[in-house]
Amino acid sequence: MVQRIYMVGAGAIARLHAKAIRKEAEAGQAAAELHVTDSNPAAVADFVRQFPEAVPHGDLETMLAEPARDDDIVIVATPPVAHAEIACRALASGRHVLCEKPLAVSREEAARMLSAARKANRLLGCCSSRFAGLPTTGRVKELLARGELGRIYQMNWIQRRRRARSGVEYQPESRWFLRREISGGGTLMDWGPYDIAAMTETLQPVRVDVLHAWTANPRADHPVALAAPFDVEQHVGALLQFHLADGSRFPVRYERAACCHGEERTVTEIEGTEGAVSWDWLIFGEDGELVRFGDEGGEPVRETSRLADATPDMMDKPIVYFRRAVAGLPSLAIVGEQAVFNFGILAAIYDCARTGEAQSVELEEPR
Ligand SMILES: NC(=O)c1ccc[n+]([C@@H]2O[C@H](COP(=O)([O-])OP(=O)(O)OC[C@H]3O[C@@H](n4cnc5c(N)ncnc54)[C@H](O)[C@@H]3O)[C@@H](O)[C@H]2O)c1
Repeated sequence: MVQRIYMVGAGAIARLHAKAIRKEAEAGQAAAELHVTDSNPAAVADFVRQFPEAVPHGDLETMLAEPARDDDIVIVATPPVAHAEIACRALASGRHVLCEKPLAVSREEAARMLSAARKANRLLGCCSSRFAGLPTTGRVKELLARGELGRIYQMNWIQRRRRARSGVEYQPESRWFLRREISGGGTLMDWGPYDIAAMTETLQPVRVDVLHAWTANPRADHPVALAAPFDVEQHVGALLQFHLADGSRFPVRYERAACCHGEERTVTEIEGTEGAVSWDWLIFGEDGELVRFGDEGGEPVRETSRLADATPDMMDKPIVYFRRAVAGLPSLAIVGEQAVFNFGILAAIYDCARTGEAQSVELEEPR
């Protein structure tokens, strides 16, 4: 039987999921029957014009009324404030849920989603897998597994853009990005899920402490930013401590800006006693560069390699990987306890910045 995929939210990202689903069907890899609903009927009508293969529904209840089949998937593609409630209702209907990033807007919501998934014995996945499985990340994991960098003593993860605010310079029609009550937060909610997914994929920490954190919203007078209610951060920084399963721990300096007054900067780097590595992780379908640093006879050496990316398009990955996970195949989907742990790190950065108190997040064992 053809797999059923139910889309909740028919905006910008829903269209990219629908394109990915259509692409897989056209390639003969996996057919799907697509359903769609949105609280705005005009969005559904427009979606169906673009994807006439989709079956429109007036609301979520009606869409999920038919009895669930074992491999049904609901994609939650609404703004963050609605993710938890829709995901829990979809899980309770007996369906697997692939939720857009950020998974939720609070740790309590994320925990509720995980317990709904456990109760229904269904998978809960997060779309933060868009940069998962890159060959550069794979090479770094190999270096770490072989101990080639020696004892790791720090990691730097710095991603600073001067003017790249969602809801202002990017997708200005979606003003909700700028309102905390709908988005849950600013650039950390928006880009943090990818940063944290990439960091946890590379290092696989089992516990993360947030030792210090801050948030800021630097003034930049774009007319859209001035016109809209705007109460979310666009620059965030944290000092994290990663604990690995082997008992080792090291600090991670994390920074992300969609608006800042200083230089743009990208640093993705791990340093150890025997060497260091820096690498591209934000790869949009092109080759990625990886640089290894070390020592030969007292002289510093550097060696650059270019690695071709053969993984699916970044916008296709979440649904491609999740369908594999639902089918019980090996997959890079970010699901269950890992998805909730990753979100917990993000939420703990906000909590630390707000309270000034250190936070700690542990990866739960899968049940
Ligand atoms: N736009 C992007 O490039 C992008 C990329 C990756 C992830 N995302 C994530 O996807 C999610 C949606 O973002 P978007 O850019 O598609 O937003 P959007 O503004 O383009 O669309 C959101 C849609 O959700 C609908 N909606 C709102 N509340 C709803 C509810 N309770 N029930 C049903 N429908 C509801 C709105 O009517 C709208 O059509 C966000 O979590 C965002 O972080 C967006």
